[in-house]
Amino acid sequence: MAITYFEKEQLFHLYNQHISYVLKIVKNGYLAHLYYGKRIDLIEGDFDLALRERVAFSPTPDINDLTFSLDHLPQEYPCFGTSDFRTPALETTDSAGDYVTDLQVIHHDIFNGKKKLKGLPATYCTEDEAVTLEITLEDTLTQLRVVLSYTLFNNYNAITRSVYFLNNGSSPITLRKTASMSIDFPEANYDLLHLYGGWGKERHIDRKNLICGIQSIESKRGVSSHQHNPFIALVHPSSNENSGKVYGFSLVYSGSFQGLIEVDQFETTRLIMGINPFQFNWTLNPQDTFQSPECVMVFSDTGLGSMSQTYHDLYRNHLVKSTYKNKVRPVLINNWEATYFDFTSKKLIEIAKAGKELGMEQFVLDDGWFGQRNNDDSSLGDWFVNKDKIPEGMAALSKKITDLGMGFGLWVEPEMISPNSTLYKTHPDWCIHVQNRPRTQARQQCVLDLSRQDVQDYIIEFMDRLLSENKINYIKWDMNRPLTEMSSALLPKERKGELQHRYVLGLYHILDELTEKHSHVLFESCSGGGGRFDPGMFYYMPQAWTSDDSDAVERLKIQYGTSLVYPPLFMGAHVSDVPNHQVFRSPPIKMRGDVSFFGNLGYELDLTKINETEKETIKNQVCYYKAIRHIIYEGDFYRIISPFETDACSWSAVSKDKNHAVLGYYQPLVKPNAQIIRVQWQGLDPKANYRVKESQKKYKGSYLMEVGLIIPELKGDYNSYIFTLEKI
Ligand code: DGJ
Repeated sequence: MAITYFEKEQLFHLYNQHISYVLKIVKNGYLAHLYYGKRIDLIEGDFDLALRERVAFSPTPDINDLTFSLDHLPQEYPCFGTSDFRTPALETTDSAGDYVTDLQVIHHDIFNGKKKLKGLPATYCTEDEAVTLEITLEDTLTQLRVVLSYTLFNNYNAITRSVYFLNNGSSPITLRKTASMSIDFPEANYDLLHLYGGWGKERHIDRKNLICGIQSIESKRGVSSHQHNPFIALVHPSSNENSGKVYGFSLVYSGSFQGLIEVDQFETTRLIMGINPFQFNWTLNPQDTFQSPECVMVFSDTGLGSMSQTYHDLYRNHLVKSTYKNKVRPVLINNWEATYFDFTSKKLIEIAKAGKELGMEQFVLDDGWFGQRNNDDSSLGDWFVNKDKIPEGMAALSKKITDLGMGFGLWVEPEMISPNSTLYKTHPDWCIHVQNRPRTQARQQCVLDLSRQDVQDYIIEFMDRLLSENKINYIKWDMNRPLTEMSSALLPKERKGELQHRYVLGLYHILDELTEKHSHVLFESCSGGGGRFDPGMFYYMPQAWTSDDSDAVERLKIQYGTSLVYPPLFMGAHVSDVPNHQVFRSPPIKMRGDVSFFGNLGYELDLTKINETEKETIKNQVCYYKAIRHIIYEGDFYRIISPFETDACSWSAVSKDKNHAVLGYYQPLVKPNAQIIRVQWQGLDPKANYRVKESQKKYKGSYLMEVGLIIPELKGDYNSYIFTLEKI
C-alpha cells in the first residue's frame, strides 16, 4: 500500500495490492482525474492524458492554449463559473454575491493513518492500516481553501474521500454545495444501481443503464430516508454477483444527501456524492471551517458480491465504534407487535419470562411506557414512567426483568416532541418550525430542533438519567418522521440553510456523548424501520431495525437489497405473528425463522399466546441460531438467487476459515411440474470435505459449488430450507 508522488509529472498514484487511483496536477494548477480501478503499475509518472483538441463552445480559461477547457477535462473536484458546464462538486457565493469558484492546487501532504472528521462519523484505522493524501486547493480571489482527503486502506479495495473547507480570506463566503467527492469516468457504458423503496419496502434494488443527462438519487427529508439509501454503484452492464467491474459509493451521513450522475456530450460520466445541496447554504466567516461527510468508495472487478463483502468487512471492522463491535448480540423479544400501547408491567414480565424459557436473552420494552402515551397522539418529550401501566416504576421493572436473567432494553424517540405533551407546553419553540406558519405534523408529532445547544443538552440529560437510574443494557432509538418547515428560531436569516446539517451534527453530538458515557449499552437505531439505515448511524449504533415490515416474504427483498452494502450483523430481523401486521400474509413459523436467521434474530409476538408446538419450534430456532450466529455475524455473505430476478431467493454465510457455512433457500409460491432446483454454494474450500448437518450427507466443496444441493420437491407455498455445513 502506498501513495507515490511523481514530482516532475505532478502525478499521484494511490495503490494497494488490488486497486489504483491516479490523479495529476495539470495546467494552471487544476487537478485532473486519470484513473480508478484495478491495480496498475506506472513507469515513472507516465500516463497518457486523454485531452481533446479545441472544442467549439467550450471556453478556454488559458488564453495561450485554446485547446484547454475545463469543459472536457476529467476532474477531481469540479467547480462552476469558468469553463465547465457540467454539474459542479462545489458551489459558493462570495461577498460580492458572485457565484464563480475556481480552484487550483497549492500543496499536498501524505501521511500514515487517517485523521478524525470533526463532528462527523467516519471510518477509522491505525497508522499501519491506511495511508492518506491531502491535496489543498485555493480560490485566488476569495482565498477559500479546499482540502481534498483520500485514504487508501491496506487490506480493502476501498478509498475514502472527504473535503475540508477553510475561509482563508477576509470576507464571508457562502458554501452552497459541498460534495464529499466527485469522479469523472472516461466512459458511460454503465448501469446505475441503487437502493430505493418506501416505508415497509426499504432498499429494493434498482439497476438500469445510464442515460445521457443527469440522474439524482437523493433525500430531501432531513434523514437518509426509506426512499433512497445513501449508496449508488456504477456497474458494468455485463457484471453480475461474481464477475465484472463495479464501483460503489456509500456516504457516511444520516441527513439529506445526493448522489448525482451526469453523462455529458462526450459520453463521459461524472459522479458526485455528498450533502444534498437543495436549500443548503453555510456561511464561512474568515477563518471558519466546514467538514464534509465521508464517502466510502469500493472497487471490485469480481462483481457485486465482492463489493458487498468489502463494505461488510470495512464497516464491521472500521466503522462501528461501539463496544458491541465484536460482542455477541442477544436474541431478543420485543413487545411492540405483541401489545402495542396496551400493556401492564405484569404482562411484560409474562412475555419476558416466556422468552427466557425459550432461550431468549434480551427483553425490549417498546413504545408506550411514558407520559400518557396510550396511542401515538401524545407524550413524546414526557420521558417519565406511566405509573398506570408500570406502578412499580422503571427501576423496579428493569430489576425484575434482569433478575429473570434477561437483559432489559427500552424504546425511546428522543428527537421528537408531541404537541400534546408537557414538554411542548414548556418549550413551544423547541421544535423545528417557521414562524407564523403551521407546524406540519407527521404521526401527530414534531421534530425537536437539534441544532440548538439547549435541546441537545436536554436530550443528553434525560437519556443519561434514564440510563443511570435503571438497569438498561439496550436502547432502541426510534425516529418516526421526516423534517418539514426546516428552520430554527435561533438561526439568523442568512444561516437558515444550515438547519438540516446542523440537525445532523446535533444528533451526532448527542450520540457521541451518550454512547461514550454508556458504552455498556447496545444501541439499536430505528426510523419507522429502515428510514435512517445508513453508515453514519452505524458508527454509533451497531445494529438497526431493518424494516417495520417483518413479513418473511417481503423481508427476502428487503434483506437481500440491504446486503448490497450492510452485513447481516447490522440488520434486526424479527419473527412476528401471523397474519402479518403489515401485509396480512401467513407464512409458517419455519419460514419466518429461516429468513430471520440471516440477521440479528429477535421475536416480536405475544409468546404467552402461542401453542406448545410453536413454542417448541421457537425454542429450537433460538437454539440453532445461537449455534450458528457467529457465522452470520463474522462470515462472508453470498447472494445466490435474487428475489428481484426470480420467484425464489437464496443466500449464505461462510465462515472466514471456510470451516462452517449456512445457506437459506426460500420459495414463497410453489409451481406445478417445476424444474428440479439445485442450489450452488459459493465461497467454500473446493478441495475440502463437508458434511450437511440436516441430511448427514458428505460432499466435496467443489461438488457443492458446481453441482449444488438438490432442493426437495416443494409441496405448498412458503417453502424454506436451511442447510448447515461443517468441514470434516
Ligand atoms: C416504529 C418502529 O419501527 C416500530 O418498531 C415501533 O418501535 C414503533 N415505531 C413504536 O412507535
